Amino acid sequence: LALVEPVRDLAGRRIVVTAGGTREPLDPVRFIGNRSSGKQGIALALAAATRGAEVTLIGANLEVDAPAHVTVIPVGTTLELAAATETAARDADIVIMAAAVADYRPERVADSKIKKETQGDRLELTLVRNPDILATLASARPAGQVVVGFAAETETDRDALLAQGRAKLERKGCDFLVVNSVGWSTGFATEGNAVILLGRGGDIVGEASGTKLTVADRILDVLV
Ligand code: CTP
Ligand code: CA
Repeated sequence: LALVEPVRDLAGRRIVVTAGGTREPLDPVRFIGNRSSGKQGIALALAAATRGAEVTLIGANLEVDAPAHVTVIPVGTTLELAAATETAARDADIVIMAAAVADYRPERVADSKIKKETQGDRLELTLVRNPDILATLASARPAGQVVVGFAAETETDRDALLAQGRAKLERKGCDFLVVNSVGWSTGFATEGNAVILLGRGGDIVGEASGTKLTVADRILDVLV
């Protein structure tokens, strides 16, 4: 009897994956959010756990169930994600920022439901910048830790997409950037994905397309 064992090439490695999309509350019943389902990050967590890694999944408003054998830390806002990720990253070998992070949050959160009666015909919101979690992690990473970012761009031209990716990699200071093109009907909340992996210096170090699990394994192959 021959059993096919999964490759355990991440055995003993501690991996932190962030997934989902952060939501910034406006009042007790409303938020500003994005269309990330968390599927690509969850696929990364599952693939890494299957390959033997000790995985912490920091899930921002996940729309699908987290895999078994993964420690899940649920978060809501970007500030919560920042705090949880910075703590979990301290003793991690690899940190993968797959979450879609709200760049801005409302300056004030109303204590009670915002009412049309008091607002009238216009409602103006003031938003303030959230901290850049990836850039902060990359600049403070312990020796040997690998920090991976994601960049979902609406650019469809490959060369322009790569140029945006390279500029983002440089700005973030991370080791790898997973670049993909998203639109109204591609990338976010879909089953499949197509990505280009950039390494430090902006070289293409991998490309993958297919299910989010196939893409996850290909990304891990490069990291290994
Ligand atoms: N990211 C982060 N903290 C933020 C914003 C983004 O850690 N406040 C991370 C994301 O998780 C992702 C990477 O940075 O891994 C790139 O996110 P992206 O939104 O593409 O980058 P931004 O710098 O926010 O640029 P843009 O203005 O294009 O949104
Ligand atoms: Ca952003």
